[in-house]
Amino acid sequence: MSAVASRSRRSVLAVPASNPRFVEKARGLEVDAFFLDLEDAVAPGEKAAARAGAVDALNAGGWGAKVRTVRVNDLQTPWTYRDVIEVVEGAGAELDCLVLPKVTGPDHVRWLDTLLTQIEAANGLAPGRIGIEAQIEDAGGLARVDEIAAASPRLETLVYGPADFMASLNMRTLVVGEQPPGYDVGDAYHYVYMRILVAARANGLQAIDGPYLQVRDVEAFRRSAGRTAALGFDGKWVLHPLQVDAANEVYAPSQEDYDHAERILDAYEHATTVERRGAVMLGEEMLDEASRKMALVVAGKGRAAGM
Ligand code: GLV
Ligand code: MG
Repeated sequence: MSAVASRSRRSVLAVPASNPRFVEKARGLEVDAFFLDLEDAVAPGEKAAARAGAVDALNAGGWGAKVRTVRVNDLQTPWTYRDVIEVVEGAGAELDCLVLPKVTGPDHVRWLDTLLTQIEAANGLAPGRIGIEAQIEDAGGLARVDEIAAASPRLETLVYGPADFMASLNMRTLVVGEQPPGYDVGDAYHYVYMRILVAARANGLQAIDGPYLQVRDVEAFRRSAGRTAALGFDGKWVLHPLQVDAANEVYAPSQEDYDHAERILDAYEHATTVERRGAVMLGEEMLDEASRKMALVVAGKGRAAGM
């Protein structure tokens, strides 16, 4: 497994790029990352205005340490190439990643990689400065998720898109992120989560969960986020200010687990360097090199969250 990309993305805010009021509000929210949306939150007639809005919003700054991204339209539309060119030429120095939706094969990612390489070269941007986040949100994308995850060194995350995914499978339900009614024998999404997570980790990428649409039900958001956080996902999209604190908490370890992880790292470091032993007791717990790796994951998530 390669080292996993390290920008913190516990909370990833969706912001329609065509709505200046939402853009302004987004600046003040304590999210780790945001994307200015040119895709599904923007009506077809508003795409050009949304591109201009995204460029202005990035160049105006005021985003602090947030990861700054723009979601372009998917490759089945006539809009994608213009989205990429206008946004990166207009604001490439203020942009961290592009989010590519409805990725169904590695060719989609390679197309974007090549276009970005050309735009960076023509505009004096550092080669490779713009990363890529690939949304896996239909059966075709999931079937080729391993190839997609390996398609470009620009990739930083795989992002699960539950709404489009549920539609793609013809799931007989209307509530995104909840179990389909009638399926009472486990988690209907476990296979999807694990495929995305394993493909991401095998290629050093982060795995991000998609939106929960019942925005006022914060407890339900926590429950939904808690499942992917428990598996190891790095964060989740948030659609509303009410969801932000919950995402930041759920995807960080508890204080108790974080402190425990740091104690394990200290004890194991002491054991291997001072005592020259590969296994050691910490209270009632036997530690070895694998315990160190697990502790490093929890400590890493805690440190990234500023604990
Ligand atoms: C997000 O894009 C989704 O389809 O859930
Ligand atoms: Mg989608």
